[in-house]
Amino acid sequence: MKVTAVAHTNIALIKYWGKRDEKLILPSNSSLSITLDKFFTETTFEWSNSQEKDLLVLNGEEREDKKIQRYLDVLRHEFDITLRAVIHSENHVPTAAGLASSASAFAALATAASASLGRKDSKIALSRLARLGSGSASRSIFGGLAIWQKGEKADGSDSYAVPFESELTDQLAVVVAIVSDRPKKISSRSGMKQTVLTSPFFAEWTRTAELDLEAIKKAFANSDFTQVGEILEHNAMKMHATTLSANPPFTYFSQESLLVMEAVRELRADGIEAYFTMDAGPNVKIVCLRQDEEKVASRIDQLVGRVLICHAGEGAKVIQNENGN
Ligand code: PMV
Repeated sequence: MKVTAVAHTNIALIKYWGKRDEKLILPSNSSLSITLDKFFTETTFEWSNSQEKDLLVLNGEEREDKKIQRYLDVLRHEFDITLRAVIHSENHVPTAAGLASSASAFAALATAASASLGRKDSKIALSRLARLGSGSASRSIFGGLAIWQKGEKADGSDSYAVPFESELTDQLAVVVAIVSDRPKKISSRSGMKQTVLTSPFFAEWTRTAELDLEAIKKAFANSDFTQVGEILEHNAMKMHATTLSANPPFTYFSQESLLVMEAVRELRADGIEAYFTMDAGPNVKIVCLRQDEEKVASRIDQLVGRVLICHAGEGAKVIQNENGN
């Protein structure tokens, strides 16, 4: 059955950084994210017995993609099938935003691939399945805030995301400062591997990330935005400290990223509550309250010339199937 699914990307407020199992994509620490409304992937998927090989059309162009190819083999194994996949996928990311994320891609793929077989996988099962494509995708199955529980088991059966409710969710804004639209120099996959293997700070990172998660959960429960902001900014900088302390050292910061961070500190000095976070690339995401989003966006826009204001988005879902449902 031909099925179309949509999934939005997410930004981690407590980062996932480092795997304890490379193959099963099991993280060293649990993480928490907000799914965003602006960036999403729409994927039309069909399992076919008339194709000789898998077909992937990405943004209108036929592509060979090793990561997706490997993932289709994982799905065939999980579903116990030998069918070939026909995939048409569009990334709806504002032109050249440099934010194309594997999170929305693999969450949409897992959702569509399962529905295409008429399976009724639970959200938790889909989160586990999406995780096998890309760790952060496990969280994009859910809208709003989601926690990816690292789990304890060696087979990964307890490593999946769950939704996390807070009254603050709908008050949050994420202002994305686009400082570069070039592809990442060091992928998150190889960056985290290098860090796990060589950074003397890695063990402390995983230990304190768990403490940060507990603390931010409390702050969300108390609707204490100041606490939420302070914890998420510190957590992001600790993650980036592990890249600076890897051997050889590397960083995702660019000159512009540092200027944006400085501007956020100045906003705070002016009484506007805003906090920054960064992932495996130079773009900076600024978390603030909706009431301040315009002020934050206009200040950062003066610096980088390209900003986007996002809010909490929806979880992954099937939007169309051949039965017209
Ligand atoms: O799931 P990946 O391989 O795209 O890794 C994501 C890593 C970070 O974006 C840096 C942090 C996170 O938790 O999303």
